[in-house]
Amino acid sequence: MELTGLVGWRGMVGSVLLERMAAEGDFDLIEPLFFSTSDKGGRAPAHAKSEARLQDAYDLEALKRCRIIITAQGGDYTKDVYPRLRAAGWDGYWIDAAKTLRMQEDAVIILDPVNRAVIDAALARGVRNYIGGNCTVSCMLMGIGALFKADLVEWMTCTTYQAASGGGAQHMRELLTQYGALHAEVRDLLADPKSAILEIDRRVIERQRAMTDAETEHFGVPLGGSLIPWIDADRGDGTSLEEWKGSAETNKILGRGAGAAPAVPIDSICVRVGAMRCHSQSLTIKLKSDVPLADIEAMIAADNEWVQVVPNTRAASSHALTPVAVSGTMKIPVGRLRKLAIGADYLGAFTIGDQLLWGAAEPLRRMLRILLER
Ligand code: HSE
Repeated sequence: MELTGLVGWRGMVGSVLLERMAAEGDFDLIEPLFFSTSDKGGRAPAHAKSEARLQDAYDLEALKRCRIIITAQGGDYTKDVYPRLRAAGWDGYWIDAAKTLRMQEDAVIILDPVNRAVIDAALARGVRNYIGGNCTVSCMLMGIGALFKADLVEWMTCTTYQAASGGGAQHMRELLTQYGALHAEVRDLLADPKSAILEIDRRVIERQRAMTDAETEHFGVPLGGSLIPWIDADRGDGTSLEEWKGSAETNKILGRGAGAAPAVPIDSICVRVGAMRCHSQSLTIKLKSDVPLADIEAMIAADNEWVQVVPNTRAASSHALTPVAVSGTMKIPVGRLRKLAIGADYLGAFTIGDQLLWGAAEPLRRMLRILLER
């Protein structure tokens, strides 16, 4: 069986990855070799077979034993270990959740239901680095990839509504702690049906504005009961790194730009909201032609087995197109589909996906399957 290295399996993305691998029977097909950055010699998780002890994740010789390594350890680990491992002569397959190598020429961004042809072409020419995409990009393409495949998109703008999980486990904890602090501030007033709502509101905003550095350590500002219209680094040109990825990564996944088919212009405003683990996006799509809405719905629905077209009604949107409905599932609902008042070739849409599943872990384990099938 294929000796497959697993690094960063204890973190949030890594834990979701292990759950999915177990659910899909991936461990039946490999001999997992679990690595740790801090617990060499410790006991490997229950999925281990004959390799029951944890290996040192910085031990190049141990890593070199594996033809396939999957890492969810994070960008700092990749920056440190990956170049040294290649320099030491390792020519195996590196599957990585971190962004470090994503835009390198010798790397492919993996999202096989959307770009299996790009992945297969890369395998055929000997590419060895297969990197998971930005979560927002992957969830969006799982939803409306059909429109790109049919080359119907002239340009697109997105407004994202990104969950705390995109920041990491500590961010999720901080969000809930902030909600708790706000509730505690007005618990007595809430219990009294005669209390004045404006008094409750005043106390909440005062409590938000009084949050300490410790209470906002991870987001930098209060997120509970608020939002943050900036995600990731400031690129100094009015855009955030997250917004840049929306265009650069989408086009790379689709194999567009850089000499191939022209890149599709995509621009975004990326916003952090107080959801736990689902990223949502509102899209404005300029179509290349006035395709009937029913045809668009049919194309989207037929694109992959996870996408679901949600009827554009209040009831269906409120129930099926929310983080509450989608968290922890593989579903990618797409709804609010309608032609916009600005013209018959302008399409509005809203889509949502679990940031930790399609947005992070799932493309990695599917790439493992593609390699095992070769
Ligand atoms: N950058 C994303 C976010 C998560 O902050 O939500 C990782 O793709």
